[in-house]
Amino acid sequence: MIPNQWYVILESREIKTGKPVGFTRLGEKMVAWRMPDEKIVVQADLCPHRGAALHQGKINNDNIMCPFHGFEFDSEGTCTLIPANGKKSVPPKIFQAKTYPAQERHGYIFIWWGEAREEYPPLPIFEELENNSFRYADYKESWAVHYSRVIENQLDVFHLPFPHGTTIGRGNRTVADGPIVKMDGEEMQIWVYNRKDENGPAKRAGELGEPTRVPFLHFRFPHLWQNHISEDMRITVYFTPIDENHTMLYSRYYQRFLKLPILGDFVSWLISIFSITILHQDKRVVEKQLPIKSDLKMTEKLIAQDQPIILYRRIRKNLQDGLPIQKKN
Ligand code: FES
Ligand SMILES: [Fe+2]
Repeated sequence: MIPNQWYVILESREIKTGKPVGFTRLGEKMVAWRMPDEKIVVQADLCPHRGAALHQGKINNDNIMCPFHGFEFDSEGTCTLIPANGKKSVPPKIFQAKTYPAQERHGYIFIWWGEAREEYPPLPIFEELENNSFRYADYKESWAVHYSRVIENQLDVFHLPFPHGTTIGRGNRTVADGPIVKMDGEEMQIWVYNRKDENGPAKRAGELGEPTRVPFLHFRFPHLWQNHISEDMRITVYFTPIDENHTMLYSRYYQRFLKLPILGDFVSWLISIFSITILHQDKRVVEKQLPIKSDLKMTEKLIAQDQPIILYRRIRKNLQDGLPIQKKN
């Protein structure tokens, strides 16, 4: 996993005021709840006393109360009460629950997964989708495979005619010209031109000239992807590691050709239904890929059109090692 990053861990709608929820993300058990002032608290789901799961407890005066011996922890993780010692005694500082920096934005809960900092970088968000009259529908599901395989599947530009032969891969356009890949900081943009196998071999990126504007794929490290279908229609997915063998996909289907609230939401929902079918065509294949996790050095034999995947692996490794995204040669 890539440390020192913001990750989406829940949708906003999954977390209610005063009700702790327990879940696993990034290989760690966590508990989250919403305070009366809407602030989100995310802590390790592990009582420092004797290891009970805090999410089984309840919220008491904005604090979480452990289900086992009733120790209470505030939103900073400080232990405020040890009932067995009495209300008047001050709990020792060693009873500190681990707390993650958390923020809520655009319908998602983010946590900072890494070392504490004086200042944190901005949240990974495509800001143009936040305020431009898009209507959207949300869908989430987990896949039983390492996050690297799930992300690489969405950067793969020439599989469409095969798993998606009945949907977006119709038409037998098996030849992939390109892809053209552009990197800008933590962002990767990918264009590809799929065609029938009628006019000679595949063209390389250098033979294609500047890419046309849409459609293209847009990926922001470590885990946000966008299919930029048109100016008015987009799909985004956050790929959050649950653990080494499972990934949560938080997908969202945006459109703004129909802006009316109810009808617009209905159309976004219809797009989501179609897209879920496509997603499941991928899931069937990706969950069976071996090894379950990809790496920079592995025995796979790649072809030129796999370039986005090679780039993903290289940058991921740099980020894991704390190096700049692109190493200077
Ligand atoms: S295990 Fe939590 S209070 Fe004892
Ligand atoms: Fe696919």
